Amino acid sequence: MKRFVIAITGASGVCYGKRLFDCLKSQAEVHVIISERGVELLNIELGLKPSYFKGKNVTLHKTTKINTSIASGSFHVDGMVIVPASMGTIGRVAAGVSGNLIERVADVMLKEKRKLILVPREAPLSTIHLKNLLALDQAGALILPASPGFYQQQNTVESLVDFVVARIIDQLGGEHDLMPPYKV
Ligand SMILES: Cc1cc2nc3c(=O)[nH]c(=O)nc-3n(C[C@H](O)[C@H](O)[C@H](O)COP(=O)(O)O)c2cc1C
Repeated sequence: MKRFVIAITGASGVCYGKRLFDCLKSQAEVHVIISERGVELLNIELGLKPSYFKGKNVTLHKTTKINTSIASGSFHVDGMVIVPASMGTIGRVAAGVSGNLIERVADVMLKEKRKLILVPREAPLSTIHLKNLLALDQAGALILPASPGFYQQQNTVESLVDFVVARIIDQLGGEHDLMPPYKV
């Protein structure tokens, strides 16, 4: 069974993190970390509490507790997705701060050359945001903006969310039936 980490930070678009969790929890061991601001956004945007992120193969970690399995490179993780990724977290990961569990696990993914997917959500982007994203790309992370395509004639918010989540799961090598393959 594959092992993934999902981190939810305090950017708009926590629906992407929730949908990713819903899709992965039945097919993988899932570790969830939610930043303090992420907890607020979960409540504001979805009316959810962190306790939603429970299940048979699920571990919900405290962001402040760095002394845990996933903080070590010796604990193999197949992929980490920060979704949504706030510009605050992106800046701190780009600078190698490692001040909380989300930043530490992201740092481990980069140093171990493992899959780190960042789903930034901000508009417009400043020079600082763009420099941080470039630094992370150059360090081996994959930048996957929460920017759905419209060519499959999606007409619901859910289908637009699924478009982005499908792209994330494709990158992780997981299974999904969120979108049919594009046909002309
Ligand atoms: C309602 C609300 C929406 C926000 N949306 C975003 C956003 O879309 N993108 C972003 O980068 N920051 C956003 N922020 C700011 C972050 O929450 C803030 O920078 C925070 O310190 C990030 O902390 P974290 O990365 O530890 O979660 C938002 C804040 C609030 C209160």
